[in-house]
Amino acid sequence: MAILKIARMGHPVLSRAALPVADPTAPAIARLIEDMMETLEDANGAGLAAPQVHVPLRLVLFRVPPGRETAEEESADGEHAPSSELESPTVLINPAIEPIGERMVEDLEACLSLPGLAGVVPRHDHILYRWTDTEGRKHECEARGFHARVVQHECDHLDGILYPMRMTDLSTLSFTSELGRPAALEA
Ligand code: NI
Repeated sequence: MAILKIARMGHPVLSRAALPVADPTAPAIARLIEDMMETLEDANGAGLAAPQVHVPLRLVLFRVPPGRETAEEESADGEHAPSSELESPTVLINPAIEPIGERMVEDLEACLSLPGLAGVVPRHDHILYRWTDTEGRKHECEARGFHARVVQHECDHLDGILYPMRMTDLSTLSFTSELGRPAALEA
């Protein structure tokens, strides 16, 4: 296990599309996940995408703080999907997102790759997302609110998109030390 260095805005790994994980069950992927778990814990973030630790693969971790989970979960093979209530982060390999409905919601986001900054970002309130787990099984899950927001933030990292690129009002981009309130998520 190791705490990995987090790439900051401007590093090319954050601005290009990441490659699909060919074998989600590979030992190298298990090691990467262990290191990312430790890095996420150390940074006290809500989520972390592999490109943020200089690995250009389609893999993310996220966690939803207790009281903020609003997911309706089901999985393709009939088993229950990993719950966002778990203390341990959920791992999404090769995730894909489909918005449900038109409703967008705004909230203050921060990113571990833009330390010290936050901005108001519109996101889809309700999404369906699909992913593969570390045993190669496929799952899908509906999410709303914070859960939907953190998944959208993380999956954007896989396409080279940082939250300022989603902002519609750049005048809200601020140093968190000037805001007097924490961002809804830092991931
Ligand atoms: Ni981020």
